[in-house]
Amino acid sequence: MDTEQLRRHNILVVGSSNTDMVIKAGHLPRPGETILGGTFFMNPGGKGANQAVAIARLGASVTFICKTGSDIFGHQSQQLFEGEGINTSYIFSDSEYPSGVALITVDEQAENCIVVASGANVNLLPSDLAKAEEAVDLADIVLMQLEIPMETVEYVAEIAYYKNKKVILNPAPAQPLSPSLLKHLYMITPNETESEMISGVKITGQESAVKAARVLSEMGVQNVIITLGSKGALVYCDEGVEFIPAFKVEAVDTTAAGDVFNGALAVALSEGRNQIEAVRFACKASAISVTRVGAQSSVPYRSEVDIFE
Ligand code: ATP
Ligand code: RIB
Repeated sequence: MDTEQLRRHNILVVGSSNTDMVIKAGHLPRPGETILGGTFFMNPGGKGANQAVAIARLGASVTFICKTGSDIFGHQSQQLFEGEGINTSYIFSDSEYPSGVALITVDEQAENCIVVASGANVNLLPSDLAKAEEAVDLADIVLMQLEIPMETVEYVAEIAYYKNKKVILNPAPAQPLSPSLLKHLYMITPNETESEMISGVKITGQESAVKAARVLSEMGVQNVIITLGSKGALVYCDEGVEFIPAFKVEAVDTTAAGDVFNGALAVALSEGRNQIEAVRFACKASAISVTRVGAQSSVPYRSEVDIFE
C-alpha cells in the first residue's frame, strides 16, 4: 500500500504530551546518590504524543487529543505535531498548568527511570473530550494510555465503545482499572509490571505470562497483548495464543519502546492485519526504536520498518 492509501485508516490517540529532559549515566542513581552523567539532551515525549508520532511516521492518519500549557514547550509540541502531519484540531492549551515535563535517566544497559511532572496533562478532562466527539466518530481505532486522568480515559472508552470503535488501552504507567473500563476495551497492552498490577499474577516466564493474560481476558477484555521487553510479546486473543520473539538488536535506550509498539500495533490493525501479524510488525518497529536514544527521536518511519529483518 502506498502512503496515501494507508492514510485512509484513521486512528485517534488521546493522551499525554511531555518534554523529556534526558541524561545518560553509567548506572541509575540509588536513593540519596548523586552521580555524574553524560551529555544532557531535550526531546519531545509523553506516552500519548510518542504513540501519535509513531502512527504518523508509520503511515496512518492520526488525530491527537492532549492538553499542554500555554508556554514555550506547549507551542513547540504543537509545531512538531503539525510537522509530523498529525491532525492537531483538538489540542487544548491550558492557562493554569504548565506543559508536562519528564526527567529521565538512562543507564548503560539501556534501562531507564522516569519521573513525570504531568502539568496540563492532568487537566485534560471529560468536558474537553465532549468538545471533540467528532474525532471519535471519525476514528476506526481509539488508543489511550494512563498519563491523563482516569475519568477521561473511562469517558472516552465508554463513548467510543457505544460508537462501535475499537478501543485499545496501553495501561501505562501501571494503575488499577475499574471493571467498567475493562468491559469497554477491545484490547489491552500491558507490560509485565502493568500486567501484575491489574491481574495480580507475577510474570516469571511463559507459563505465568499466559496465566496473567487469561486472568485479564476473564476480567472482560477480549484481546490481551503482554509486552515482555527484550523477550518480545504474548498474544492472547480471538485468533489464538502465541509468543512473538523480540528482534535481536543492540539496545541503547528503551525509552518509548512500548509507545512505538502500541502505535505500530494500531497502524497494523487499522490496515486489517490479523493480531499476530500486527504484533510482529509492532515488535519490528519497537526493536528499531531501542537502537536509538530518546523518545520521539527514536521512532522509525514506515520505510525503515518495511525493510527491517
Ligand atoms: P518502555 O516503558 O521502555 O517504553 P514498556 O515497558 O512499555 O517499554 P517493553 O515490554 O519493555 O514495553 O517493550 C515493548 C516492546 O519493545 C517489546 O514487546 C519488544 O518487542 C520491544 N523491545 C523492548 N526492548 C527490546 C530489546 N532490548 N530488543 C528488542 N526489542 C525490544
Ligand atoms: O514512555 C516513555 C515516555 O514516558 C517518555 O517520553 C516520558 O515523557 C514519559 O511519559
